[in-house]
Amino acid sequence: MNTFRRNRRLRRTEKLRQLTRESVVHVEDFIYPMFVQENLHGKEEIAAMPGQYHYGLDEFRRTVVDIAELGIPGILLFGLPSEKDEQSSGAYAERGIVQEAIRVAKAEAPDLVVMTDVCLCQYNPAGHCGLVRGSEIVNDESLKLIAATALSHAVAGADVVAPSDMMDGRVSAIRETLDEAGFANTAILSYAVKYASAFYGPFREAAHSTPQFGDRKTYQMDPANVREALREAADDEQEGADMLMVKPALSYLDVTRAVRNQTTLPVATYNVSAEYSMVKAAAMRGWIDERAMVMEILTSFKRAGADFVLTYHALDATRWLRAEGGGR
Ligand code: PBG
Repeated sequence: MNTFRRNRRLRRTEKLRQLTRESVVHVEDFIYPMFVQENLHGKEEIAAMPGQYHYGLDEFRRTVVDIAELGIPGILLFGLPSEKDEQSSGAYAERGIVQEAIRVAKAEAPDLVVMTDVCLCQYNPAGHCGLVRGSEIVNDESLKLIAATALSHAVAGADVVAPSDMMDGRVSAIRETLDEAGFANTAILSYAVKYASAFYGPFREAAHSTPQFGDRKTYQMDPANVREALREAADDEQEGADMLMVKPALSYLDVTRAVRNQTTLPVATYNVSAEYSMVKAAAMRGWIDERAMVMEILTSFKRAGADFVLTYHALDATRWLRAEGGGR
């Protein structure tokens, strides 16, 4: 008689579905990326990322308190300096915009995990992630500047530094520099698997970091490759990364799964700017149910094996989770 399984039995009520749900999104899964801008007062909306802002330090000071009160575990900081130079000196300046924002965050919300993007692209006129010589983005000479940037963030009080430059050897260079300076407890979240992606378009407008020549394909990964992703992840783990990131998120769920299966380290995925802006644009036209779609997208990251998610949807998603009494 019993010739087929009644899978629908467990879908019959919301409580049954909840009990048997395999992946659940929590507020505790979110890291909120934020853009802090030097010499700005208040905040300015980023045109290509509706609902996201450039923050002046004054407005940032107020906003971090709200974020901490919402129960979001942490933020990821990006800086927009007033001046750029070939040496990217704003990236590792003691009083640079990110360094100042770290101090503000730690003063206002000491428990909030402060992560920082470690990269040079916002700080040099070429808009590249490493040091530029002629038309080349040189690897080894960049490491010193990248490590100096990470150290300056640690000195200012960052909990986690997150190198996104994709220079080879940066994780060991950072680890060594931090340890020598007495920052053994500063953690490294490596953008281990970062693809050369069109999904960063709105971010480059937001961060004023569009490359002025060429592209990033000589250092960021080819979107076609997954074995290479496992190599990058293994290398960064071996160099001393505490956590690994896959970026972008949505078109790379298979990569997150593959990295998850290879490592015992925490794995994060970065739900990048265009992934956010596409949803926002469609929502603003009334073409989709934004809330349902965002929750489905965030759930897919958990299902793929991510331990946490860097997402511009963090504030909205937190309010939705709180409203339904979910999110613990
Ligand atoms: C800087 C950096 C980028 C992003 C994070 N860090 C841009 C890039 O590499 O071109 C993208 C974030 C996003 O699109 O939301 N290297």
